[in-house]
Amino acid sequence: MTIKKRMDTQVATRSDDIDEDFARAKTIPSRYYCDPAIYERAIDRIFARSWQFATDLDQLKVPGQVISWTKMEGSLNEPLLLSRDENDEVHCLSNVCTHRGAQLVESDCVLKQIRCRYHGRRFGLDGDFITAPGFEDVQDFPCPSDNLAKIPMETWGKFVFVSLDPAYSFDQLFGDIKKRLHWLPLDEYRLAREHNRDYFVHANWALYCDNYLEGMHVPFVHPSLASLLDTRQYRTEVYGLSSLQIGPANNPADAFDLPPDSPDYGQSIAAYYYFVFPNMMWNFYPWGLSINVVQPVGVDKTRIRFITYVYDEKRMQSYSPRDIDQTEREDEAVVELVQRGVRSRLYDRGRYSVRWEQGVHHFHRLLKHYLDD
Ligand code: FES
Ligand SMILES: [Fe+2]
Repeated sequence: MTIKKRMDTQVATRSDDIDEDFARAKTIPSRYYCDPAIYERAIDRIFARSWQFATDLDQLKVPGQVISWTKMEGSLNEPLLLSRDENDEVHCLSNVCTHRGAQLVESDCVLKQIRCRYHGRRFGLDGDFITAPGFEDVQDFPCPSDNLAKIPMETWGKFVFVSLDPAYSFDQLFGDIKKRLHWLPLDEYRLAREHNRDYFVHANWALYCDNYLEGMHVPFVHPSLASLLDTRQYRTEVYGLSSLQIGPANNPADAFDLPPDSPDYGQSIAAYYYFVFPNMMWNFYPWGLSINVVQPVGVDKTRIRFITYVYDEKRMQSYSPRDIDQTEREDEAVVELVQRGVRSRLYDRGRYSVRWEQGVHHFHRLLKHYLDD
């Protein structure tokens, strides 16, 4: 153990590798959680190339609707807009004027055309350039780069995802989940804004993800939650770019009514907790869905956006915002404890529990892969 903490981030050494066999592996070196240079690399190499949840199609129901949306506020800060044009097509576009770079749309609105309020340039809701006052004598104008940049966009049911520069296809990311949960009536899910909330935690974004990825802490950190889950049956499955924790119900009344064509038919399942690399948590319950989006805002500061969708209002009665809030605060407190610990000169790496920490191991290997590549 070196007493001075290593921050030589440019040179990843073989000894930092995370063994594929997690019974042998050591956890990711602690500087990955506290080195500002590694944090910046994660923003560029992981987040700028990731798929992020943007909105759902109910928020863009009629032609002319435009949503102003900043991708990853506090880190990427990319101004984007989502629009539904007069041909009923939905687009994700750069929200930056192609003249001198003014942000175009500042809040959600209904428009026929997008007009820049700086010098009056106009665009269609599909992003195509229309006119620019004062540009009559300009050569080779307009050209394709005068249109607003179109951003890759995908949907799963009504949920809309975008990526500035995808490092992998949307299907690679969500294919396994879609197959497993093909029976969910996602189109009937309703955004429950009244339950949405942002939390801030004074810890690195990846530490928050680590904590989510194992149920091992539940009896220690969330005793009231532990009584609802049958921890003996709790299990983790890993896929290419996602992992799943299955929370079996202690009481059959808390379980999903699974259809016969579900691969889990016959089991008593209270929750599917999907982690989608690098920062999304899709928690499916019999009453609906809670999405948690982990957004880095600094090397040791993270926003967690809680977005709630309700499917079964009656079963929603089992949902308690107070319990969710308490669980979240319990998690934040331990994650902040870890942030203080990983800065220590006396700690570098630990080991994985084979029973519980398969998802953490999988996440660390993905992190290393995309950061050191
Ligand atoms: S910046 Fe938009 S028209 Fe000049
Ligand atoms: Fe927790």
